[in-house]
Amino acid sequence: MTNTEKHPTRRGFLDWLIGIGTSVTGLAMAVPALMYLWPAARTGGSDNVEVEGASDMAPGQSKTVQVGGKAVIVVRSHGGFEAYSAICTHLGCLVQWDGTKRQFLCPCHAAAFDAQGRVVSGPPPAPLPPYRVKEVAGKVYVSPT
Ligand code: FES
Repeated sequence: MTNTEKHPTRRGFLDWLIGIGTSVTGLAMAVPALMYLWPAARTGGSDNVEVEGASDMAPGQSKTVQVGGKAVIVVRSHGGFEAYSAICTHLGCLVQWDGTKRQFLCPCHAAAFDAQGRVVSGPPPAPLPPYRVKEVAGKVYVSPT
């Protein structure tokens, strides 16, 4: 047995340290990215969710809530509230509400859905699924249809 096998070299230790650091950094970046791209994989949470601060929302504004562990966008219109799944029907990215365009926009492949969740442009094969909205005693609740 040589001396270097008994005692690791400084170079070997630094290579090991850099490898560990690179692995930890890669994992720390990959986990949030995967959670953003595949939110439908997360489950759990309540199926009947109160939209906090809904009464303070102006027409055209939106809030995102978790219903049954899935992201749902609640939009206030002049006629009340509507809610749609925030999960794009193409590959599952999170869509965002654009109050100026009055559309749900998917950043992954530039898809657009109208205010009723119907596909306007892009590759999604289906509209955004709607959610049930109930207003009870000034509070707004969202649940699956
Ligand atoms: S994932 Fe939304 S358009 Fe592709």
